[in-house]
This record gives sequence, structure tokens and C-alpha cells, in this order.
Amino acid sequence: MLELRDISYRYPGDEYDTADGLSFSVKRGSFNCILGVSGCGKSTVFRLINGLLRPQKGAIFIDGKDASTLKMRCGYMPQKDMLFPWRSVGDNVMLPLEVNKALKNCSKTKRRELACKALKDVGLEDCYNKMPDELSGGMRQRAAFARTMLTGNELLLLDEPFSALDFLTRISMQEWLLEQWEKHHKTILFITHDVDEALFLSSGIFVVEETPIKSLKEIIVPAGRPRSRQILDKPEIIELKNELINILRRQQKV
Ligand SMILES: Nc1ncnc2c1ncn2[C@@H]1O[C@H](COP(=O)(O)OP(=O)(O)O)[C@@H](O)[C@H]1O
Ligand SMILES: [Mg+2]
Repeated sequence: MLELRDISYRYPGDEYDTADGLSFSVKRGSFNCILGVSGCGKSTVFRLINGLLRPQKGAIFIDGKDASTLKMRCGYMPQKDMLFPWRSVGDNVMLPLEVNKALKNCSKTKRRELACKALKDVGLEDCYNKMPDELSGGMRQRAAFARTMLTGNELLLLDEPFSALDFLTRISMQEWLLEQWEKHHKTILFITHDVDEALFLSSGIFVVEETPIKSLKEIIVPAGRPRSRQILDKPEIIELKNELINILRRQQKV
């Protein structure tokens, strides 16, 4: 579904690369996390995949096509929900339908209908006419997810979507996201710096071991699906958790 081939990127004015010859690939329908300490370049990798940044070297392929030739590459959900405060929740969710030129013939009624359905899918059917500041943190993230789904892309990039939520809301949202993934069969790449979150959600974890990012260490999580949080108590998962914490602590700059 996604392949990065020998990607290098340096921000203008920087003296070192953020990514240096990075290659990795992701299978269709999978749920993988990228795990790394703050500032290691995780969000930069997402911005390269979604086209907000252009790599100085290398190529990215989505579904076998050179991503630089694609108009709509993937759904992208940044860390902040970015809901426009002056638009209702429903009007926020329908935004991808307004900006997608391929859908310019989609009537306002049809757009409303699709936004309603997307909100219903995330359990927010009563929130169409509410304003974003009337929603809780978890509801805002669900609305942002519904908007990402309406881009219609197979590949979803989710950048620390739950990191600002309190602990209990965060674990409910993780369970909710796995249900959504199982229902919609999307390919999800999820950034986190939280080891438990990576272990609970993913089939495979791509760990950032060094900066500049030259490669990612891929670790398969030894747990099936559907899964519950109890997998986190299994001895082999606890062992893996300690291994991951040790890798991250080696790079942490205090
Ligand atoms: N727009 C930018 N211009 C210059 N440097 C940036 C910019 N955005 C991020 N960086 C730098 O790139 C590095 C990686 O940032 P980022 O990809 O946001 O890391 P992460 O998401 O892992 O926390 C950091 O050192 C950061 O300071
Ligand atoms: Mg980031």
C-alpha cells in the first residue's frame, strides 16, 4: 500500500538531515505504529508521505503509483484536531467533500447526507449542528476522524491523535479506533511516543532508533485480533515493552 524508497529530507537552514535514506513499506489493510521519542522526526515522515513536504532524495509509492503524481494521496489527521471553530461539527466534517475538485458536482444535500452518515459512524449523530467547542476532547477527535474518513482514501495517517486526552478517554478511544479499523478495512499508520498505545494498537511497530532517521526497526507484536487491553499483561508483551522503553531511553535528550 505504501512504500518509501531511500527518502532524505533536510529542513531549509538545518545542518543535518531529519531523514537520511529512509526506506520502509506498509501492507494494505494493516495497522502499524511509528514509535519514537519527541522531536525524532516522526511528523516529518508523515508530512513527506502526504506531500506537505517534498523529499530531496528518494521516492514514495502509494498503491504502486509514484505519490508525487497523485492529487489525493491519503487521509491525514494531525495532532491537533484542527476543527474550524466557526463552522458547525457537520460543516467541518463535510470539508473534504467541498475541497475535492473531483466531487464538484456533489450537491449540498448530498454532502450533508454523507457528513451525517460519517458522524453516525463515529457515534456523533446528534452533533451535526453543534459547534466544535461544545464537544469533549474525545468527541472532537472522533469528529476529526469522521472528516478524515470522508477524504475517501484507503491510507490513513494518524499523528498522535489521542496524546492530548486524559488517560481513560485515551484508552476508550484506542478501543474505538480498532473497531473502526476492523469495520472499514483501511490501512492505518499511527504515530505515537506511548509504548502501551503502540503495543495495544498495532500488528507491527516501526521504532525510530536514531536521528537522522536512516531506518526503522520493525517489531511484530505477538498478539492476535480482535484484542483487548489484557494483551498488555501477557509476559511476552511486557518483555517487549521493556525492550522498547530501553530503545527509546537511549535516545532521550533530557
Ligand atoms: N518547519 C520546520 N522547520 C525546521 N525544522 C523543523 C520544522 N518542523 C520540525 N522541525 C525539526 O525537525 C525535527 C523533527 O520534528 P518532528 O518531525 O516534528 O518530530 P516528532 O514528530 O518526532 O516530534 C525537530 O528537531 C524539529 O525541531
Ligand atoms: Mg510530532
